[in-house]
Amino acid sequence: MMTNVILRNVTEADLPILFEQQLDPEATLMADFPSRDRDVFMAHWKKIMADEKNILKTILFNEEVAGNIVSWEHDGEQEVGYWLGREYWGKGIATAALTELLALIKIRPLYARVATRNVASRRVLEKCGFVVYKEDGGFFLRYDRE
Ligand SMILES: CC(C)(COP(=O)(O)OP(=O)(O)OC[C@H]1O[C@@H](n2cnc3c(N)ncnc32)[C@H](O)[C@@H]1OP(=O)(O)O)[C@@H](O)C(=O)NCCC(=O)NCCS
Repeated sequence: MMTNVILRNVTEADLPILFEQQLDPEATLMADFPSRDRDVFMAHWKKIMADEKNILKTILFNEEVAGNIVSWEHDGEQEVGYWLGREYWGKGIATAALTELLALIKIRPLYARVATRNVASRRVLEKCGFVVYKEDGGFFLRYDRE
């Protein structure tokens, strides 16, 4: 399973697929994160792609664009986030992608935030070694390992 998951830099050609994936109502409910309209989505990605400090990876599963995993700095904290198309859920892809990302990024600690209801995402983070350090309208997690 893990060997089928590859990260590579996000390209403009991926954006229409990533756009569709973030429209999914089940995903937005799970993540408690609203979808963006096409114009807003495209403008957001053009902006973040222009900033070399952002780590923006497309998750390939069997060479298909399964989703994205990203890391950015916010208020002095390096955060991570990810999103998969629904047809790719439940195959261990997020766990494999985060494991690969942790090897790529040397910055510590890393931070993540998940909605209280997002059991799957919390599980992904904890399987990879993130630890909950705060609960305040959601779970705040931190990764300190080398
Ligand atoms: C959250 C998400 C990334 C999980 O991806 P995934 O590839 O399906 O996760 P994995 O297959 O690696 O599974 C990780 C763990 O979560 C568990 N899990 C998966 N879906 C679950 C669910 N709906 N409820 C409870 N546990 C779940 C799995 O069983 C696995 O744990 P296990 O190994 O102990 O069995 C994916 O559902 C998604 O993209 N959701 C929409 C966007 C989102 O929520 N992003 C994260 C925002 S913080």
